[in-house]
Amino acid sequence: MGTITIDGRKVEFTDEKNVLSIIRKAGIDIPTLCYHSALSTFGACRLCTVEDDRGRTFASCSEEPRDGMVIYTNTGKLRKYRKMIIELLLAAHCRDCTTCVENGNCKLQTLAHRYGVTEVRFDNYREELPLDLSSPSIIRDPNKCILCGNCVRVCSELQGVGVLGFAHRGTDAMVMTAFDREIGTTECVNCGQCRVYCPTGAISIKNDKEAVWDVLADPNVRVVAQVAPAVRVAVGDAFGLTKGKSVMGKIVAALHKMGFDEVYDTTFSADLTIMEESAEFLERVQNGGKLPLLTSCCPAWVKFVGDQFPDFKDNVSTCRSPQGMMSGVVKEYFRDPENAKGKKTIMVSFMPCTAKKMEAKRPNSYTEGEMDTDFVLTTTELVEMIRTTGINFTDLESESSDIPFGLGSGGGVIFGVTGGVTEAVIRRLVPGHDAATLDSIAECGVRQEGFIREFTIPYNGMDVKICVISGLANARTVMEQVRSGEKEYHLIEVMACRNGCVMGGGQPCVSDEKIKNSRTEGLYRADNISVVKKCNENPTIISLYDGFLKGKEHKLLHNEEFCAK
Ligand code: FES
Repeated sequence: MGTITIDGRKVEFTDEKNVLSIIRKAGIDIPTLCYHSALSTFGACRLCTVEDDRGRTFASCSEEPRDGMVIYTNTGKLRKYRKMIIELLLAAHCRDCTTCVENGNCKLQTLAHRYGVTEVRFDNYREELPLDLSSPSIIRDPNKCILCGNCVRVCSELQGVGVLGFAHRGTDAMVMTAFDREIGTTECVNCGQCRVYCPTGAISIKNDKEAVWDVLADPNVRVVAQVAPAVRVAVGDAFGLTKGKSVMGKIVAALHKMGFDEVYDTTFSADLTIMEESAEFLERVQNGGKLPLLTSCCPAWVKFVGDQFPDFKDNVSTCRSPQGMMSGVVKEYFRDPENAKGKKTIMVSFMPCTAKKMEAKRPNSYTEGEMDTDFVLTTTELVEMIRTTGINFTDLESESSDIPFGLGSGGGVIFGVTGGVTEAVIRRLVPGHDAATLDSIAECGVRQEGFIREFTIPYNGMDVKICVISGLANARTVMEQVRSGEKEYHLIEVMACRNGCVMGGGQPCVSDEKIKNSRTEGLYRADNISVVKKCNENPTIISLYDGFLKGKEHKLLHNEEFCAK
């Protein structure tokens, strides 16, 4: 508790852990490249440097606030200092800004403009290094790395994976994997969180847009899209619409305009997932199957289990993810010559997640030797495609998803937030669908604050112990407790990214907590206004099970065997 004077104005502080947070609280946007409130403080870039009343300069991100401090954030000395830092960073940086994938989103580019860096007086002394294209999900360009260390810290601190680290010293320092292996051969789970925290184009999404444009131009191909729940609450931000508002109707309209023949909603196949996963859960509980049941819809988590907890691979649900179920069902539907009408079907999924690109290539994502999902594009790539077409997204009239796979329940919509899968499972298992029942489920602990949520629900005379986790470092903590016998659960839901898919590695990047929360609230709002709340009350799901799916449930909705990559 105390007061500090910032640029002549007194600002009170309470529990802020550093001076930078108080400066931001005062409404001053001080530049930073290596600071993130969710990560440990690194203090490498020095851009957040401020000056005190004795002319001493220090990095505000690494300085604890003291009562009575007097600081200045915008003196001539600081402006000169920041400009020099940016110039030096640019000197050691590949400067192909106009053709860089992050052009317009790069923090270094923005700061160079903001501080008037119009020339770089130093030569780039760094040897040009090859790109690492080995991952199905991300591209690493070491020539654009500014050594902020964000990727290193997010990979180890938030994700508990730790495949990136610093190597060498001084001017030779660089970020690399152990033994400089290609990232696609490491234990990287493809979550893309390193890309979210990277301030430049050093880590970017592996882009599959051009291949999709090509199939859209082919008259002999039926191009079918599926859109995941979390995508709809992130696209609007990019076009200046209300943050977190669901714009699914506009997305459907934009995809139709681009030439997609059918646009389906992944909430439909999320309903299928719940039908199957809740049945599998009951079967395991009643017949002494492997418990805890581990959810299988997050491919980064599944790979994490395969790499770090292989002794638990039989605990992972055999259910395909909603992406896998939708693509499997759609491809099967169009295998019937009557439905195919002489056209080949290509399935494109729009996902908030970079790891879904990896999932689509897994050996168990094929049916009858054919790839179920041909292309996975992230929300970020969808936004870029809409921009390329010149469609006026804000003024687009909403359109409905196509039938027969376009209608999902509210339970399917909330798959995009941490706890959503579990909440939908509980809705499926608990009888009744009145408001009081749904409210009591929402309040059972599944929506509590935090990245690890433990709670118990009574079901058929037993106490079902559940743990809902987001962030793989948290999953590691819990799984180690389960492995040692310290904790016991019946069901564990894990989403690799903190807060769930709404903050997936393929979403447009945001660091503002309010925007993060607005995406979660947007999905809960979409659930609130949905007519059907439970998967087993979705009429298209009921008719699918009664007809087309009969006898094909295992083939189209389940994985034959565990497969992590
Ligand atoms: Fe403080 Fe980089 S943000 S040193």
